[in-house]
Amino acid sequence: MSSRAREVPVLAFTSSGGRHVSSKLLYVAAWDHEVTDQLKPTRILGEDIVLYRRTDGAVAALEDACPHRKLPLSMGRIKGDTVECGYHGLTFDSTGTCTRVPGAEKIPHVACVRSYPIAERYGLLWI
Ligand code: FES
Repeated sequence: MSSRAREVPVLAFTSSGGRHVSSKLLYVAAWDHEVTDQLKPTRILGEDIVLYRRTDGAVAALEDACPHRKLPLSMGRIKGDTVECGYHGLTFDSTGTCTRVPGAEKIPHVACVRSYPIAERYGLLWI
């Protein structure tokens, strides 16, 4: 386990209708109050993920590794609703799409990170 992220105890459920969030298996990513407008690294099932809250209050979850040199995006900074890598400045929106490459006009199609859907229910963030 990385020293920068703590392993989140996995609590999962499957829905069977009613008020459940999804028919898929979900895992607890964090308490809802733990995720703010600051980058929060975590690890779930061995995957490094960075969480943050967008300006509209929704939670974004991205793969915590820049596609350029794999610096954790959690070591970067938030700019509006985007995350800027702390190394060379590639910038990603909450869908994982690269929106800016410093010094380049064209953005390579491989410059993207995985994004994860998040559901906020019962005081928890489910991923
Ligand atoms: S490592 Fe992220 S921009 Fe280079």
